[in-house]
Amino acid sequence: MTNPLIIALDFPDWETTNCFLAQFPTNEPLFVKIGMELFYQAGPQLIKTLKARGYRLFLDLKLYDIPKTVQNAMTVIGQLGVDYTTMHATGGQAMLKAGAIGLKKGAALANVPPAKLLAVTQLTSTSEAQMQAEQLVNVSLPASVAHYAKLAQNAGCDGVICSAQEVPIIREHTNPDFFCVTPGIRPATSQTNDQKRAVTPLAAAQAKSSAIVVGRPITQATQPYQAYQAIKSEWESFK
Ligand code: C5P
Repeated sequence: MTNPLIIALDFPDWETTNCFLAQFPTNEPLFVKIGMELFYQAGPQLIKTLKARGYRLFLDLKLYDIPKTVQNAMTVIGQLGVDYTTMHATGGQAMLKAGAIGLKKGAALANVPPAKLLAVTQLTSTSEAQMQAEQLVNVSLPASVAHYAKLAQNAGCDGVICSAQEVPIIREHTNPDFFCVTPGIRPATSQTNDQKRAVTPLAAAQAKSSAIVVGRPITQATQPYQAYQAIKSEWESFK
């Protein structure tokens, strides 16, 4: 299977989401990301509806809380049968381990395969200067991301969310099958919006990202399906 292009469905409600998806052929094997905005509005029913259509799903709720709370929340998420899900690596080793335990427990309860568990390192909207000033982190941004990747791997996570700019350094510090999922993707002609570490689809492929997440360059395009196809073919052009 080729490395996936995941569309971030950052929409306020089901109606808007459904109108957007109606612009794609029904046989297109979409992989979509549901974030906080849509999940808080449309909830688990949305997951069931999209799964019934045969879509692959990334539930991106970026959990961050005390270990027991994350474990219990992940037990609920595990039962939904999604393909990928997320926690913040900054929650620390104990929280990450608890999340991994909860996710496996949920999957076993529902008799579904466990989701790939991904840790958010530094948000792709964070610059190095901002990280150093606001988080009082005195190393470079790639060093911070590589540190969180090792922490996540040791805690039992399957991979991380990072910018494609940091994939090479992560690959130096983690197992070959460790997943690097990269948002902050912008075709050369697109606006960067709030993304500070944006990378083109081709550069993400060259950096050996495991999957890319693309939101506004597709969701805000005048012709979303054409924008999706152009980004997908650029992403898949480098083997
Ligand atoms: O519209 P855009 O392509 O910038 O959307 C990127 C998506 O990836 C958003 O849904 C955002 O929440 C998510 N994301 C990110 N950076 C991370 C983790 C997730 O941009 N580090």
